Amino acid sequence: MRPLFIVLEGPDAAGKSTQLQLLSQALTARGIPVLTTREPGGTPLGRKFREILLDPKNRMRPLTELLLLVADRHEHVEEVIKPALARGQWVLCSRYTLSSLAYQGRGRGLPLELVHQLNRLATGGLEPDYVFLLDLPPQVALERTKLRDRFEGEGLSFFTQVRLAYLEFIRNVPRGYVVDGTFPPPQVTAEILARLPLPGYDSAVKEGP
Ligand code: TYD
Repeated sequence: MRPLFIVLEGPDAAGKSTQLQLLSQALTARGIPVLTTREPGGTPLGRKFREILLDPKNRMRPLTELLLLVADRHEHVEEVIKPALARGQWVLCSRYTLSSLAYQGRGRGLPLELVHQLNRLATGGLEPDYVFLLDLPPQVALERTKLRDRFEGEGLSFFTQVRLAYLEFIRNVPRGYVVDGTFPPPQVTAEILARLPLPGYDSAVKEGP
């Protein structure tokens, strides 16, 4: 079986990093080689972009923000994601193109077509096999975050916009699923695993939206 490229999306504090770990453990236990990674900051150069992007002291224009994010994505796709898939590893990635559509497109108000174009340029058209949106009411997301960085310092209306955008865009993503991010972490993991084509896993719940 070909290695899968799986993306977790959702607001800050939706539990994406916890899920990356839990999923990685579950897949590894089934003998599947896994690489976990994230955006922004999945490469050495990307970690520098990440620092610039998250520093609350940095004021920047929305287009500058998008250009840094897609630069980060390009490095990440070429240096990390494609090589891992080519080696036969499954890739579990926190955030990808949908983040830019939700945050920079809807959140910052940049034209969606521009975000699409830059995403395509950055990824060379590499699409995830599965996308799981960990959905969280914006109030819960805000309570869970500590307003540590430039994005988390945005208010309720920004996060509301981002959430609505995510819920809208995920509907057009092939094998894109919404999972309730308020569930306990092991339950979220189980919901995700149930959608994946895993050898020996109960496939009864695989059908559906
Ligand atoms: P991340 O490290 O995933 O934060 P968290 O773990 O809190 O969810 O991402 C850092 C910030 O970068 C996050 O607030 C969202 C933002 N971001 C975008 O706005 N657009 C993007 O395309 C990506 C990849 C991230």
